[in-house]
Amino acid sequence: MGHLIAPSMLSANFGNLQDDVEMVNNSLADWFHLDVMDGVFVPNISFGFPVIKFIKEYAKKPLDVHLMIIEPERYFQEFKNAGADILTIHYEASTHLHRSINAIQNLGMKAGVVLNPHTNINHLEDIITDLDLVLLMSVNPGYGGQKFIENTYSKISKLKELIIQKEANTLIEIDGGVTLENTPKLINAGADVLVAGNTVFSSTNPVETIKKLKA
Ligand code: DX5
Ligand code: ZN
Repeated sequence: MGHLIAPSMLSANFGNLQDDVEMVNNSLADWFHLDVMDGVFVPNISFGFPVIKFIKEYAKKPLDVHLMIIEPERYFQEFKNAGADILTIHYEASTHLHRSINAIQNLGMKAGVVLNPHTNINHLEDIITDLDLVLLMSVNPGYGGQKFIENTYSKISKLKELIIQKEANTLIEIDGGVTLENTPKLINAGADVLVAGNTVFSSTNPVETIKKLKA
């Protein structure tokens, strides 16, 4: 399988969201990446159910919903109803991770865990075989357009080793500061899915940029 690209709609134009949804539909992108922030787990508030439902109405590709919220388990059913296909929750926000991952999968969604830049891969040793994906934050969550943290490469390699050692089928997704420059290095290190916000939406030709990220 080649790598997947998930444009982050946090950087889209919310005054004309339908246009940007159609742009992603008509591009080589694979998923829509949707960032939900609560102003508590992260120092920013983004969007919630009405926006996700709107995107779902027009999207022709899966919705990858990244929850940057405390107590995410309170809302799994509502995210399913809003149209989420993939739900990722933060390790740092989940006391009962195993139960939560099962709950997401029992609702018919793919489930993933997100690690902040400071969280060690070792914490996943006893849950990796249950995960559809692991999302490694390559910036501190909360905002688009931040600078990529270089330590991410060694985390990808460690995670890849763990996945191989445990014979898991887990995808590795990278989120934050992904550019045309670091894409080849991330893929070589073992990344399967790349999220890109600023790189896609601040470019003059987003469809072409997605094509380059895919190449
Ligand atoms: C950050 C979000 C990211 C963000 C990525 O908290 O999780 O998905 O939108 O944006 P870029 O690609 O601009 O760093
Ligand atoms: Zn994200």
